[in-house]
Amino acid sequence: MSQIVFDERTAQQLDVMYRKRDVLRRRQLVRAALAVETGHRVLDVGCGPGFYSAELLAEVGAKGTVVGVDPSAAMLVAAARRCEGQANAAFHQGNATSLPVADRDFDRALCVQVLEYVADVPAALAELYRVLRPGGRALVWDVDWSTVSWHSAHPDRMQHMLRAWDRHLANPALPRTLAAALRAAGFTEIQAEGHTFVTTELDPETYGGMVLPLVEQYLSGLDDIDSGEAKAWAEEQRELGGRGEYFFAINQFCFTAERSA
Ligand SMILES: C[S@@+](CC[C@H](N)C(=O)[O-])C[C@H]1O[C@@H](n2cnc3c(N)ncnc32)[C@H](O)[C@@H]1O
Repeated sequence: MSQIVFDERTAQQLDVMYRKRDVLRRRQLVRAALAVETGHRVLDVGCGPGFYSAELLAEVGAKGTVVGVDPSAAMLVAAARRCEGQANAAFHQGNATSLPVADRDFDRALCVQVLEYVADVPAALAELYRVLRPGGRALVWDVDWSTVSWHSAHPDRMQHMLRAWDRHLANPALPRTLAAALRAAGFTEIQAEGHTFVTTELDPETYGGMVLPLVEQYLSGLDDIDSGEAKAWAEEQRELGGRGEYFFAINQFCFTAERSA
């Protein structure tokens, strides 16, 4: 296991990536499903560099509040900077499994691409439940990395690289068990929607375009992956891109659930 570290370098990378077209599409989908109203109190668990927090502040208006929680100091600095000057935004260092906020204090809680990095998912869902008011809504979005369809003329090498990449997080296929886990945590009105992100050109505005340098960087830091093999794998993808033959697709899942009244 060699889980990705959310340090200053990662915060800077996400700051760039989260302005790209596919990530904007994801934020629109999340905001539509979250259905925040004016005056709501919203908790952004694993807020990262604060893109959701900033956008949700505009939705809740002056009478609402957005609170972001993240264990990474670098992410919190970026999030606070993004929401600078907004009196109704607050950011706290903390873990999804032990949120530093009061019981029943929020109308909405979102957790986007965070639980796949958390070892104890039931504990994190219990916390989401605790902090929502009765009738409040949770939104959990995660990627099922086992659904990656990534073209290569060397499928065995591709599988080897993808299995190594699975180690960058705690739960590579979390969406498969999330509905049952939400039910076990006490949530009702559980709904799941799947969204496929497809890339047919090596375009940095897409998930498929963004993920190549990230995976390459991760693989190059693993002791048990041959650096020549990883380099050849990435080089093939750039060649496919150059010839107009790049193909990457992945399924991401949006779960919403309610704390019953
Ligand atoms: C892929 S980023 C997503 C950031 C943000 N939710 C977004 O989608 O814009 C994952 C974030 O989860 C945070 N994270 C990792 N482990 C966590 C944990 N145990 N509790 C809360 N946040 C965590 C990381 O620090 C990072 O900011």
